[in-house]
Amino acid sequence: MKILITGGAGYIGSHVVKQFLEKSDHDIIVLDNLSTGHESTLDTLEKISRQSGRGTLRFYRTDLADFAAVEKIFLADRFDALIHFAASIVVSESVTNPLKYYMNNTVNTANLIRLCHEYGVTKMIFSSTAAVYGEPDFTSMSHTDNEMKITENMSTKPINPYGMSKLMSETVIRDTASANNDFKYVILRYFNVAGADIRNRIGECHDPETHLIPLIVKAALGKKEKITLFGDDYDTPDGTCIRDYIHVEDLASAHIRALSYLDEGNESDIFNCGYGHGFSVREVIESVKKVSGVDFKVEIAPRRLGDPALLVADNTKIKTSLGWQPQYDDLSLICQTAIDWEKTL
Ligand SMILES: NC(=O)c1ccc[n+]([C@@H]2O[C@H](COP(=O)([O-])OP(=O)(O)OC[C@H]3O[C@@H](n4cnc5c(N)ncnc54)[C@H](O)[C@@H]3O)[C@@H](O)[C@H]2O)c1
Repeated sequence: MKILITGGAGYIGSHVVKQFLEKSDHDIIVLDNLSTGHESTLDTLEKISRQSGRGTLRFYRTDLADFAAVEKIFLADRFDALIHFAASIVVSESVTNPLKYYMNNTVNTANLIRLCHEYGVTKMIFSSTAAVYGEPDFTSMSHTDNEMKITENMSTKPINPYGMSKLMSETVIRDTASANNDFKYVILRYFNVAGADIRNRIGECHDPETHLIPLIVKAALGKKEKITLFGDDYDTPDGTCIRDYIHVEDLASAHIRALSYLDEGNESDIFNCGYGHGFSVREVIESVKKVSGVDFKVEIAPRRLGDPALLVADNTKIKTSLGWQPQYDDLSLICQTAIDWEKTL
C-alpha cells in the first residue's frame, strides 16, 4: 500500500511511521510542515527505513493550509490510505486562539477529506482525542459497575476549542462516509499518550511541553525546578486526578491494526485508545521518582478549570473489534522510556 501520513514528523506520527517501516512493506509518504515536528526525527526514520530495507519513505515539507500544494501531492501519487495526525494540540492555546485550532484542525481536515474524495483515497485513520468527551457524564449511561470508564457511545461535549475542533473533524469524516459508501474510516480517540521508542531512537519533544509525564521527567532530570500538581482534593483515593496513560508504541500498533481492519473490508468505526485503568498524578510522580532515583520538588496548586477527576477508557471495543493487544501496559516502563528519551534531548 501507499500511505499518506500527515504529521509523521511529530511525536505519535513518527512512532507509527517507524512501525510501518519496520513491520510492513508499505510505501510511506510523510506530509509535515515541521511546525512542531522535527527534521532530526525524519533523519532517524530514514535510517530505520534503510536498515529495514522494506517499504520506502518519502517526505514533503508542506503546510496543510496550502491547499494547492497538498492537491499536487494527491495528483502525483495514488494513495491507498490517509493517516491524519497533523494538528495543533495545546489545549490552553486553543482557548486564547480558537481560530488557529478550527483552521488547522477542522478546515485542513475537511480539505484532506475533499481530496480523498476527489482522488479516490478510500481509507482514512484519524487521530482524535478523549477531549471530545469533555467532562464525562456518567449519569447518561447505564453503568452496571462502578468503574466509571468512558465508552465510545457516551455523549461528546468538548469543553475547549481543541476538543471541539477534533469533534467537528470527526463529524466531517462521518458525514462524508455516510454519503459515500466507498469511503471508510477509523477514528481513534487517544487518552494520555506517553513514553518513547523502546530502542530510544525517537520520542516526545514538544515546546511548550504541556503533558504530565514529560514535565515530571524534566523535573527529575533537573530541567525544571519543580513539578506543579493541580489539585489534591479530588474525589479519588489520593485526591489527585486519575488518567489512562497509554504507551506510544501500543498506540502506534493500534494504527497498524486499524489499517488492516479497513483493508479487510470492515466497517467504519470509532475506538478509544487506552489501557482501561488509570494512575493518579501522585502515582505517576512516585513512579518517575522511583525509576529515576531522583527526589524532586512537588508544589501543590489549586485545581485547574476543566480537569475532570477521572478519565479512563473503556477499551473493550478496540480489543474485540480490532484484536488490539497492548504490550507495554506498565507505568514504570512508560516512565523509563520517557526518561531515557529526555536524556537524549
Ligand atoms: N499527544 C497526545 O497525548 C495526544 C492525545 C490525544 C490526541 N492527540 C492527537 O494526536 C495527533 C498527534 O499529536 P502529537 O502529540 O504527535 O503532536 P505533534 O505536535 O508532536 O505532531 C503534530 C505534527 O503535525 C505537524 N503539523 C501540524 N500542523 C500542520 C500543518 N498545518 N501542516 C503540516 N503539518 C502540520 C507538526 O509539524 C507535527 O509534526 C494530533 O492530531 C493530536 O490532536 C495527541
